[in-house]
Amino acid sequence: MDVLVMGATGNVGSALVELLRERDVRVHAITREARTWPDGVEGVVGDANDPASLAGAATGMDGAFLMSGYAAEARLLADLGAGRVALLSASSVPLADRGNAMAAYHRDSEEAVKASAAAWTIVRPCSMQSNVTRWKDQLDAGEVIRAPFADVGVAMIDPADVAAVLATALTEAGHVGQTHRISGPEAMTPPVQVAIVAEVLERKLRFEAVPDDEARATLPGQVGQAYADAAFDIFREHPQYESAIQQTVEQVLGRPPGRLRGWVERNRARLL
Ligand SMILES: NC(=O)c1ccc[n+]([C@@H]2O[C@H](COP(=O)([O-])OP(=O)(O)OC[C@H]3O[C@@H](n4cnc5c(N)ncnc54)[C@H](OP(=O)(O)O)[C@@H]3O)[C@@H](O)[C@H]2O)c1
Repeated sequence: MDVLVMGATGNVGSALVELLRERDVRVHAITREARTWPDGVEGVVGDANDPASLAGAATGMDGAFLMSGYAAEARLLADLGAGRVALLSASSVPLADRGNAMAAYHRDSEEAVKASAAAWTIVRPCSMQSNVTRWKDQLDAGEVIRAPFADVGVAMIDPADVAAVLATALTEAGHVGQTHRISGPEAMTPPVQVAIVAEVLERKLRFEAVPDDEARATLPGQVGQAYADAAFDIFREHPQYESAIQQTVEQVLGRPPGRLRGWVERNRARLL
């Protein structure tokens, strides 16, 4: 079996490459820069925002892993034909109809995949545990970690679990035409997340909440106005898309999802 993997160096994609190799799948890994891959992985150099650079990349593949929102999506789906597709979407997709810009680009990719000839599976995670790397600059600067929406519990999922669900969908029966909404095992507020990071790193970190009015003023400069509005829509108006705990990982993989502590322990070096 040959599977094309987008985002092959990312949190989810790199784990998916490994899991597919373990299943004796021949992996065709897309990256923007050429790099060396282990046996069983063939590099495909291309930019997912430049469809011409990936023309033919999906031709002859039995399956493909796609991330939402890239211009090459239509080209890849057309070249893939009737193969399997696993799309990495997001839990907030139902908010697209309210004009939520983050949800909208995932919804658009879901619709493209569903309209294609592919045998599709959609995976909708809430926030990933790897998002704690966003605090790396603050960890380098001192003991204080500041974050907005400090009172909202997030059922963060290990990207390795996202990858395991995707690998299962691409290689096993029973997932075609399914939308899997997935989460981690517990909802944790940012101060609780920081406490776990502090324990694993053996540091005395102090959490400080970014008030909503400050986040309203600063987030647009960091992520743009549309995504800042989308974040407020999710975390202030509809936190259930981040907080609700799903049983899907256990149902698909036959084991519980991993905890934040485990991800931080495995990825300690990325936070030092
Ligand atoms: N973070 C979350 O909480 C969350 C929640 C729900 C859904 N998601 C979705 O999950 C996706 C994957 O997350 P992640 O944490 O695995 O991402 P990540 O670690 O940031 O990795 C992104 C990957 O995409 C590749 N990439 C970026 N732009 C590209 C382009 N123009 N052409 C080809 N490849 C490109 C990067 O490759 P190179 O830079 O090596 O070329 C890298 O491998 C996100 O994009 C998002 O849509 C994330």
